[in-house]
Amino acid sequence: MKKLPLKFDYTNLLAENIGSEGISILEIERFSEITKTYHKILTNDKESDKIGFYNLPFDKKLVKDINKFVKLNKDRFENFVVLGIGGSALGNIALLNSLKHTFHNFLPKKERKGLKIFILDNIDPEYVYNFLRTIDIKKTLFNVISKSGSTAETAAQFLIIVDLLKRKLKNKFTRNLVITTDEKNGDLRKIVDKYKINSFTIPENVGGRFSVLSSVGLLTAGFANIKIENLLKGAEDMLKKCQTEKLLENPAYLNATFHYLLDTQKKKNISVMFSYSNSLYYWADWYRQLWAESLGKNRNRNGEIIAIGQTPVKALGVTDQHSQVQLYTEGPNNKVFTFLQIEEFRNDTTIPKFRTNYSSLDYLSGHKLSELFNSEMKATEYAISSKGRPCCKIIFPKINEYTIGQFIMLYEIQTAFAGELYNIDAFNQPGVEAGKIATYGLLGREGYGDKAKEILTKDKDRKII
Ligand code: PA5
Repeated sequence: MKKLPLKFDYTNLLAENIGSEGISILEIERFSEITKTYHKILTNDKESDKIGFYNLPFDKKLVKDINKFVKLNKDRFENFVVLGIGGSALGNIALLNSLKHTFHNFLPKKERKGLKIFILDNIDPEYVYNFLRTIDIKKTLFNVISKSGSTAETAAQFLIIVDLLKRKLKNKFTRNLVITTDEKNGDLRKIVDKYKINSFTIPENVGGRFSVLSSVGLLTAGFANIKIENLLKGAEDMLKKCQTEKLLENPAYLNATFHYLLDTQKKKNISVMFSYSNSLYYWADWYRQLWAESLGKNRNRNGEIIAIGQTPVKALGVTDQHSQVQLYTEGPNNKVFTFLQIEEFRNDTTIPKFRTNYSSLDYLSGHKLSELFNSEMKATEYAISSKGRPCCKIIFPKINEYTIGQFIMLYEIQTAFAGELYNIDAFNQPGVEAGKIATYGLLGREGYGDKAKEILTKDKDRKII
């Protein structure tokens, strides 16, 4: 494996280059001292095992267990299906889309190398209905992923699948199940113990949106024939790079500080991740959850109401140039942009060389699509930054397990550090919990009756025409 380093280009975040809406090097340097304090706090949290995602690249036993489990099961099944939502699904989807063939599930078995993978991350009734009629249940291994073991959506999917499996396989239904959940807590763990179902554990100190490098993402990766070891090596090397307290040498801390200052001083409360790659686009989805759920908070650690958090938005190059860029260049200057750029694409196509004598066509002749694609990215970066709007780039020399591992760790550390800058708890999600509780009430879960009454009373006042 060639160790290609991920790069962070912050040229166009700087006031020196884009003018007063950027952040000056001097302002960044003012954060050098406080960075050392936050670095100490995070290092303590890591070393005392309060925050667990830092340790995931080093779990050699898990890699061994996953490889063994995959080896034992890969020839028994045709499909691997994840039942899960949020942090239990988004990393899996992004791993598959970035590291596997665009049409992985359509490839012939020999070429596909790995099972067909499906991530059922919603309970839209039509979506679930159609899906269940597409696959052969008997040839499918279902991985039920839920840290809490009680999320309504995953629980509903689980019940539907268990019922179907029982009908097809009678008392052998557990053979087609694996459960990934907390080591000790939650009803799913109890079910694992009662029915002796195969299971993997999510460390107690790793929350859903930080869990892609735990069993949550690695089991899917294993069944998709993704090289887990290289993924973890990339994460480990990025962790090493981000272990310095020197702000200007630490890409995670530096990007967090830029985003924090742009949000709080320059009113850039929208953060657009603009992926110039279809394969990386789903990482923008993963980022949306990571940034939004971690930093979108009502109160700071002192209990004061601050209601902060940048709104993360995803965009796809070049497609969204013809949909969003008008707004991005001329609409409100309230956004910071992060371009995801690939230097060397895994595949390319050359535009044929023949001449047509039409000037609107002939300039393209003989160029590669990658040249056109990346030139358009450069042009868009130019158009946005020359209007004094801040943007940066995360540069992938190439997409592979090693660079993706680096990207994951970079953004997880960046998010944890941003939590320190905002002085909030980046690892809880009270807003999500509130929605979960309301759902329990509406569906009649024992103990949640008052919540249902409260919601239904409000229904009387709806204004509908
Ligand atoms: O990041 C989080 O903690 C959440 O988005 C969860 O991943 C999501 O709510 C699903 O929760 P669970 O894994 O408990 O089913």
